[in-house]
Amino acid sequence: MKVLFVDGTIIGSKTGAMLDTVEEYVKEASGDFQIERMNLADYDHQFVDGRPSEQYNEDMQKMVRKFEEADAYIIATPIFQGSIPGVLKNAFDLLHPHAMRYKPVSIVANGGTYQHHLVPEFQLKPILDYFRCLVTPNFVYTHSGHFDQDNRIIDEDVHNRLRELARVFAKYTEMSQDLSKDVLDAN
Ligand SMILES: Cc1cc2nc3c(=O)[nH]c(=O)nc-3n(C[C@H](O)[C@H](O)[C@H](O)COP(=O)(O)O)c2cc1C
Repeated sequence: MKVLFVDGTIIGSKTGAMLDTVEEYVKEASGDFQIERMNLADYDHQFVDGRPSEQYNEDMQKMVRKFEEADAYIIATPIFQGSIPGVLKNAFDLLHPHAMRYKPVSIVANGGTYQHHLVPEFQLKPILDYFRCLVTPNFVYTHSGHFDQDNRIIDEDVHNRLRELARVFAKYTEMSQDLSKDVLDAN
């Protein structure tokens, strides 16, 4: 089972730090995962503007391939201006609507304060619902007070929530294996 860990920002380091912690817990939850990291900061992005897919640069095409080849995803996002970063939305805009269909996804997010803790629920989840992903009911939101100066998560509740997310995510990956990804409707 290939799991793609997506660091959905090109700025900052707490999002990546959250993914590092989730990775530990996901590995504890199941030995069955082949984990790959996709840091959007490592890619040369182009605006998705409707051109044929082969006209995007190699990095954009690589990004699509990685999304398509994965069986499940952990998506990590910071909150920017009450929403997800444009670069992450641009990556989703590039994908075929069937690319993530019926594949499990868990979300982890971080903002400057608690103020935007429902952004993952109201902004990111609807996009994943459009893709018909199997989004776990657990997502974890952190803010800067949950991290120490070296960007390690110091809040025990957050660790517990991440462990629980990993446990449910592992179960969703098991369940998804019996669900055919064949698509009968064209939409
Ligand atoms: C352009 C920009 C917009 C931001 N907007 C918000 C916001 O609307 N709400 C919020 O809670 N945090 C906001 N933040 C704070 C980021 O979410 C915060 O930087 C992020 O959690 C990552 O922390 P790090 O930069 O130390 O890695 C914003 C940060 C930037 C750079």
